Amino acid sequence: MSSPGDLFDLALNGHRVKTPIAIASMAGTVDAAYVAARAGHVGMGFIGGYSIDPPTIEASRRMAEAGRCEFLPGDPVAELRQQADLLAASPVVGGINLRASTPEALSGVARSLGDRVIYEIDAHCRQAPMVEAGSGEFLLHHPDRLVEMVCALKSEGVLVSVKIRAGVSENDPKLARRLWEAGADLLHVDLMDAGYAKIRQIRNASPILVIANNSMQSFDRVMEMFSHGADLVSLARRSDIQTLAGLDAAITRYANEFGWYNAPKQLCRGGDVRALTFCCLPVKDCPLLPMLSKVGLSQEEYVSLKREAVKGTALEDGPYTCFGSLAWCCKVSSPCLLRDATLEQMGISKKEYMQKKRELSRAIMERVFPSRDGHDAG
Ligand SMILES: Cc1cc2nc3c(=O)[nH]c(=O)nc-3n(C[C@H](O)[C@H](O)[C@H](O)COP(=O)(O)O)c2cc1C
Ligand code: SF4
Ligand code: SF4
Repeated sequence: MSSPGDLFDLALNGHRVKTPIAIASMAGTVDAAYVAARAGHVGMGFIGGYSIDPPTIEASRRMAEAGRCEFLPGDPVAELRQQADLLAASPVVGGINLRASTPEALSGVARSLGDRVIYEIDAHCRQAPMVEAGSGEFLLHHPDRLVEMVCALKSEGVLVSVKIRAGVSENDPKLARRLWEAGADLLHVDLMDAGYAKIRQIRNASPILVIANNSMQSFDRVMEMFSHGADLVSLARRSDIQTLAGLDAAITRYANEFGWYNAPKQLCRGGDVRALTFCCLPVKDCPLLPMLSKVGLSQEEYVSLKREAVKGTALEDGPYTCFGSLAWCCKVSSPCLLRDATLEQMGISKKEYMQKKRELSRAIMERVFPSRDGHDAG
């Protein structure tokens, strides 16, 4: 998925995502030039939204008449082709946010533009004309239709993101799982008033790449999302250069120091399923046991999965730690003289230890969520 040595170890569409910050779309405002002006501080940018078929174009027209900013090019596909070329020339991984009323409209655009951009289905817009056109939030109330749209795009061999508003669908984690199974590569979640608990629920239900959105302008809020399962955060209203540069610098500093920028909290401190990488042997009554039964692993399977995954790696050893191997050791933020002395003796920095724990967590996630046929973000 990505080349070794990347600080964030994140790649999409064949390109390194240089920082886990995205620009979220704002119709009528965010185009390729807007993204290019911020390219120094973001890893991804979603332009649009663009309405691409007669019902959604008519909806955009009505929304523009009512005073909203909208992109209304004469020929949406020609405009998108030009925008996609500009995005492809920038160091930012580009996506286009599309409003469509049929799966065919989406696959038609993908056929014209190819795989140089990520296709984001706008299942987020709640403006009445767009919902009446069968787009935006309409799709969260009609998940079968949304799944058809994902499948139509996947059949064109492109990467797919779905932009949702939390709390609208009947069950967000269930929807995330379904979209991932249908082939969606990214889930872009406007959290509205929901906090990090929503991100944790989604992460516990699927391994889809998650972008957390809504008011992500402080480092503390961003880290809350990262430590509960988000892979990236995105900003729309506050996507000014000063805010983006500040976040980029703080996240990069953190990653340089601790190695794993979105390491989960320990399970007993409210962490998500990835936190199994920090869990002990199952020797007591603690949150490990309910998590194992939630993800369908027996205690024996959990033990042998971790033992196998660390075989031949630096985590295999650790005779003086609680359970005889660093595989069962805690996150570096939990102070422990035994673990730290072991790491020092082995010549492994805390940053390297956390990177190894990230690899172990990936092996655990692969086991918990066996891969879908033929669909991989990379
Ligand atoms: C003026 C404006 C236009 C927007 N247009 C779109 C759009 O076309 N498609 C979409 O998925 N989200 C759209 N959004 C939602 C944003 O991408 C984002 O989800 C929301 O503003 C919350 O994130 P923020 O706190 O970073 O602004 C728009 C938001 C604003 C303020
Ligand atoms: S196994 Fe250890 S780290 Fe995991 S939840 Fe239990 S006490 Fe916490
Ligand atoms: S040795 Fe320290 S880090 Fe390892 S399991 Fe025991 S308390 Fe946790």
